[in-house]
Amino acid sequence: MSFTSKLIDWYQSNKRELPWRARKDPYAIWLSEIILQQTRIEQGLKYYEAFIETYPTVFDLAKAEEEDVLKLWQGLGYYSRARNLHHTAISIVETHKGIFPENHSGLMKLKGIGDYTASAISSICYNEPQAVVDGNVYRVLSRVFGIFTPINSSQGAKEFKTLAQKLIDTKQPGEFNQALMEFGATHCKPQNPGCEHCVFSSTCVALKKEFVMQLPVKTGKTKVRKRYFNYLVLVSDDEKTILEKRTEKGIWKNLYQFPLIEKENSSKITFEEVEKCFPEIEIDSVTVHNEIPLTHKLSHQHLQIQFWVASTAALGEKGLPISKINELPVPIVIHNFIVDFSF
Ligand code: ADE
Repeated sequence: MSFTSKLIDWYQSNKRELPWRARKDPYAIWLSEIILQQTRIEQGLKYYEAFIETYPTVFDLAKAEEEDVLKLWQGLGYYSRARNLHHTAISIVETHKGIFPENHSGLMKLKGIGDYTASAISSICYNEPQAVVDGNVYRVLSRVFGIFTPINSSQGAKEFKTLAQKLIDTKQPGEFNQALMEFGATHCKPQNPGCEHCVFSSTCVALKKEFVMQLPVKTGKTKVRKRYFNYLVLVSDDEKTILEKRTEKGIWKNLYQFPLIEKENSSKITFEEVEKCFPEIEIDSVTVHNEIPLTHKLSHQHLQIQFWVASTAALGEKGLPISKINELPVPIVIHNFIVDFSF
């Protein structure tokens, strides 16, 4: 039996029942695939359900406030995906009358939709034979076919896409793509793959030559930048604080945070520095909340974060009632602080 038939057979008896699999609606598939680029299915499910319930159609999402979309996305990270989701919903409504383009090339013209998402939507919803290549696909193909080309090289990207395209079941491309991703996610896992009871055990090159755990190959990692964040949590006697919107480009654009003092190294901030940040406010005291900085790892940055609690009698115009802070979208580190500190 061919690779393709074995895979599809495996999928028919092992696939998980997932809410978006019951429908071929491009809106639901788009939403699920954007969420799944960010997280695993177990965690992604509750985000998908929250989005579909709050915005059942592309028209509802287009009508939403960006801030509310970011709030629902909170915790998934990489917030540009949520901003693009909203932006694209608006353009589908405004320039396509709410109807998704029905092929790969039309989908590729939309913001935030690259080859991966366009292939997923066009194969699942419109039966177009476009192979999806994600991290799971790289792992399965590199192992079964014994491919050592680095997956993060342009040669690797081409080679794996060509192979997946050759293998795709042209009669049921959507099933094939989902089967390959599902097999990588639940069976051919990065750690503890189920090699001893695998449908490919008689043909898998990596299993035969004992290099399953060496595949897939990734070339040298990009350098990680260390940053030192000090958040000032102002607390006034009338139970207000200050949250500011991050407007500069970057992962947390348009999310809210406590006023930030960023330093070049791990030296501690001083009372004078805090006073300088708020010349119009009389600060009574500043105490550190977490003596040991917490580390928040992003793909290219490691943030060392300390929260400083500053007490004051009043905050003036900028003061926001503490009872309102949960309404604003914040990075997960800020959310965790709010939960932990419980004002
Ligand atoms: N991972 C991302 N998208 C997926 C899908 N459609 N099926 C299984 N795993 C996935």
